[in-house]
This record gives sequence, C-alpha cells and structure tokens, in this order.
Amino acid sequence: MDLKGKSVVVGVCGGIAAYKVVEVVSRLKKLGAEVDVIMTANAQKFVTPLTFRSLSHRPVVTDMFSDPEYWEIKHVSLAQKADLFIIAPATANIIGKLASGIADDMLTATVVATKAPVLVVPAMNHNMYANPVVQRNIRILKDFGYIFMEPDTGRMAEGSSGKGRLPEPSAIVGKACAILKPEQDLEGIRILVTAGPTRESIDPVRYISNHSSGKMGYAVAQAAHERGADVLLVSGPVGIGCPDGVRLISVTTAQEMHEAVNGNFENCDVVIMAAAVADYRPAEVSERKIKKNGDEMVLRLVKNPDILKTLGTIKGNRILVGFSAETDHLEDNAAKKLESKNLDMIVANDVTMEGAGFGTDTNIIKILKRDGTVIDLPLMSKLEAAHRILDEVRDLVAGPAQAGSKERGG
Ligand code: CTP
Repeated sequence: MDLKGKSVVVGVCGGIAAYKVVEVVSRLKKLGAEVDVIMTANAQKFVTPLTFRSLSHRPVVTDMFSDPEYWEIKHVSLAQKADLFIIAPATANIIGKLASGIADDMLTATVVATKAPVLVVPAMNHNMYANPVVQRNIRILKDFGYIFMEPDTGRMAEGSSGKGRLPEPSAIVGKACAILKPEQDLEGIRILVTAGPTRESIDPVRYISNHSSGKMGYAVAQAAHERGADVLLVSGPVGIGCPDGVRLISVTTAQEMHEAVNGNFENCDVVIMAAAVADYRPAEVSERKIKKNGDEMVLRLVKNPDILKTLGTIKGNRILVGFSAETDHLEDNAAKKLESKNLDMIVANDVTMEGAGFGTDTNIIKILKRDGTVIDLPLMSKLEAAHRILDEVRDLVAGPAQAGSKERGG
C-alpha cells in the first residue's frame, strides 16, 4: 500500500522490544509515510534517538520542554497532523497512564491531544500482561476507541515463555495500513479529472498559459483512486507525476483537452474540472519564430471552447464539478459559474490568500452546491481538500436519500 501523504506518529516506550520498532519506522518510511517518532525517557535507554532520526529523517521528539528549534511542532501540532498513532512497545506503564488520562510527558500529552486513531501494541512480561489491572486498563482504552494488537506468545527476553512479545514489525505495519486504508466509498464510480494549465502556442518557441501547477487536480485524482474510484486524469503540461493506479491522458492545448474529455465523457459518472483552461488562444500560430519588430505588438486571440459549459448541456445524470479560482467576489463569481455551466458543485478559491495560491501544497476552498449550500473550509493540504470535495461528490452520486447517512470520519 502507498502511504504517501500519510502522517504516522510512532510513540516508543521503554521496553526491550523498542529495537524492533526501528524496523516498523523503516517499513513505514519505505511505504511513503511521513513518520515522526516520540520517545519516552525510558525508551532512550534501549535505543538512541539518533537511530530513529536517521531512519525517519525527522527530528525525534524526546522532551516536552526542549527548545523546538529543529521542529516546527509542539505536541498539539503533532497530535493534529497525525493520521495514525502507533504506540510500540506499549508498556503496562503507558497503558495505565492513558487509561487514567495522565499526560505528563510528550508522548502521553500528544496522544491525549490527538483525534487520530491510536494503535496500541503491548509488549511486556507475560505476568504483567495477564495482570488484571493491566487487562482492565486495556478494556478501558478499547472502550474509548483505542485499537489494540494482541502480543505474540513465545520466549520472552528474560528467558521464560508466555504471551507478551511484540508482534513482528511486518504485522504492525500491516495493521497500520489496514487502519489507514480509506473507506472504498467510491468503488465502481468512474471519475474523469482534469488538471493543470493548457498551453496555447504563439509560434514554435512561445505560448500563452497560466500559473496552474496541477497539484489540486492531481490530489483529487489520487484521493479518488485511494477511495476505490476508476480514475481517468486528463492533464495539461505539469511537473508532477501521475498518481499510481490512475490512467493519464496528457494534452497541451484547450482544444486537445476538449477532445480528450469529450471522447471519454460517455464512460464516466463524474467529471471534476480542476484544469485552468486558457479561455483564448492566438488566432494564428506562426510556423516560424516571430521576430521582434517595433515597440508594440498586438496579438489577436480567439475564444477556446468552454469544455465544462459544453458538458453542462449534455450532462444527463452525471455529476459535474467545476473549479473557480478568483481574485475578487469569490462567492458571487463562483455561484454564477455554477448556474451558467449547469454544474452540481463548484469549488472556489481566492488565489490571493496566503496558502491558497498556485503551486502551493495547501488550499483554502469554499464548496458551493446547487441547493445553495456553501461549505467554508479552512487552510488544509490539497490532498485533504480533495477528500472533502470527494465526500460531497459521493453524497451527490448517492442521491438525496443516502446523503448524510455516510459521514466520513476525520
Ligand atoms: N473551464 C472549461 N473550459 C474553459 C474555461 C474554463 O472547462 N474554456 C472550466 C474550468 O476547468 C473550471 C471552470 O470552467 O472548472 C471555471 O473556470 P474559470 O476559468 O474560473 O471560469 P471561466 O468560465 O473561464 O470564467 P473567467 O475566466 O471569466 O473567470
């Protein structure tokens, strides 16, 4: 599984099995996850922070009160960014503390502050594990929604045998993947996504284009694929790779994009037009390089087809989603486009706002729907924004009867 874009925080406690968690971190990294490690004071007696730092390529958090000069994150920000927490090896001590709501070090404080799922992987002496107070604490945490892995049974570090060994790193990572795998709520839905700019040639060396990086559309394509959709991406020229599992048609001009979209429209259920299509193209494309001549130059432009507007006239039952990048009157302009292009939904963003412009990895979007609903979302990663857009798409595909009964968590 690809964990690109996922943030996993691994809390390492003081147990002999701490060394096995080194492999857990290494495997998560190989799958593409961003991994932050928090070590308790006792954990550092078994494995050095340097080992985890070398593997995670991130500063290792060891002390609640140290100067955060190397990491932009305090316990609250780590708690917020995590898609998953793994506590391994989870000692009787940490299980007891969490069951009692104690937050007296970086690890416990971060876990208490997170809304992400927490996977607890106990490893301890088998008598400790069997102790009724430990078992009671595990039950308490399970009731709160903490996810537990059963320890393996076998020979323990101190020589005796029993149930208390840390499960194999591959099993821990497998469990993490199962938790992180998004719900396949778009399975069977065929989604056509457009992304990037178009380029309109002036002559063999020059063109008209715009600042679109394609990141938002690519994030939509990736997120839709992760949720089980059959995704076709029609992309203008961009500098990013096509997400795994997504079919790609590369185009350059608005006319080429129009043809690619039209040719595939019949076989799709949803079209999400995130591309920044050039509205005009040069009336004539010179076959030879235009030489500099005089102080002024006038370029005559002709209108490109409005791809989305055309689709709006033949949409049938398909769901059409537009994007509206604006500098002024965001909501009004987006609402007009929603209406005039016969869309089901439009995603508006003010490109002048910090964190919402071209080329950034984040966006600040408003989602306007046909029924007048406006969903105002805060600054978030483009991948997260993509998921929020797809939540709405899923509800529109399901129709009014099902919408609302399928709230996505997180
Ligand atoms: N769009 C399209 N074909 C075009 C222009 C735009 O399909 N020739 C789509 C875009 O992909 C986007 C939506 O229409 O989903 C709105 O694009 P935008 O450029 O914001 O709107 P325009 O209708 O071009 O209006 P204006 O440029 O005047 O704001």
